[in-house]
Parts: sequence; C-alpha cells; structure tokens
Amino acid sequence: MIITIDGPAGSGKSTAARELAKVLNISFLDTGATYRAATLKALRENVDLEDETALAKVVGASDIQIIPEKKGVRVILDGQDVSKDIRTEEVTNNSHLIARSVAVRKVLVDLQRKIGAQLGDFVSEGRDQGSVVFPDAEIKFYLDASNEVRARRRYEEMATAGYDVELEKISNDIADRDHKDKNRPVAPLVKPEGAIVIDTSEMTIEQVVVELKKNVEAKL
Ligand code: DC
Repeated sequence: MIITIDGPAGSGKSTAARELAKVLNISFLDTGATYRAATLKALRENVDLEDETALAKVVGASDIQIIPEKKGVRVILDGQDVSKDIRTEEVTNNSHLIARSVAVRKVLVDLQRKIGAQLGDFVSEGRDQGSVVFPDAEIKFYLDASNEVRARRRYEEMATAGYDVELEKISNDIADRDHKDKNRPVAPLVKPEGAIVIDTSEMTIEQVVVELKKNVEAKL
C-alpha cells in the first residue's frame, strides 16, 4: 500500500506523514530530504545552481540514502550523516533552484521510487508524490493551512531546533517558496486528482493524524 501526502511547507504534512506511518505500522519517506541533500551537495561543491547540466552531473554522482527513524529521517550523503546540515536556512532557501531542474528531478524521482520499492507499504510526503512519483498510490492526501499558521509552525520548529530565526522573515520566505513551488514548469505543487484535501489550520497534529487514519480505514 502506498499513501501519498502532498502540500506546501508548514501544512503539517511531515509530522502527520511520520505519525500516520507509525500508527499504521508502515514505513515513511520524506522526499524533501532528497532535494535538500542534493542542494547541500551542490552548495558544497560550489556548483552554479543555475547550471542544469552541472547540477544533474553532481547530483547523479552523489550517494544519497534516506533512512527512516522514529523522529524523522537520517540522511547520509556520500557516507556522511548530514541530517542536521540539510535543515539550515541556506539549504532551505536554495532548494527551489534544485527542485526546478528537470534533470535533477529525474535523478531524484528515480531514487525515490527505488527507495519506495524497498520499503513495502509506506507513506510518502512531498510536493509531487501523488501527481508524478506514485500516481498509482492507493490513497492520496493534500494538506494545506493558512500562510500565517504555516509560518508560525515553521518558526517554532526552527526555534526548537536551536536556530536563531525571525517570524517575519520565515513568513516571507514561505510565501516566496510557495510561489516558486506552485509556478515552476516541472512537477509543480498541485492537488493530485482524487486527493483528499484537509485544511489543518485549526487542527492539532493529533487531530490531523486521526483524520488521515479515518480516511485510510474507510478506503481499505
Ligand atoms: O518539504 P521540504 O521543505 O523539506 O522540501 C525541500 C525542497 O524540495 C522545497 O524547495 C520543495 C522541494 N520538494 C519538491 O520539489 N518535491 C518534493 N517531492 C519534495 C520537496
């Protein structure tokens, strides 16, 4: 069984996907982590982020491993644990340049399908999971929330992780990233056909998980 959860940053999809996988006792795939690892690699190698060919070459030659863990995923890039390094503002704000590259997406989509094939039953979350990567998924969700709520969630997540961040800057960054995710020509963030749409603005994460589980059980 494949369950996809797509939606913008701060919609609650990462935590909800992880928790849903836990209650269903199946695996979890955070596909944003593959884009983040690729971004980190390109930044470290000083690749011009506008140069598609160079990007695809560097990303294609990288060894990216995504290992599901209780509190998220462990990410190994060329043998090194980069789980924390991929969550910095620099990586976050440059990731859209990687995500808009057709050639890079091809490499990462292949990688995501390969990981999926090894996972068995799983919940996958990202921007294009139901629309492009796993179009035959049994159940597709699209999570959304107001811009204000999403910015506050991201702020609290970053502050808790020990980063020195400002709410207003996060809010502007989120609006900017949404615009880029939704308007890029390749695999833009869309509500996949047939997806169950949930607005999480007024919901706690526990309520979101209950709602997701209810929908999964109704479909089985
Ligand atoms: O969900 P996230 O913030 O970890 O995503 C990081 C970046 O990768 C962000 O720019 C959106 C992009 N992304 C994507 O284009 N497709 C996905 N399936 C997952 C993430």
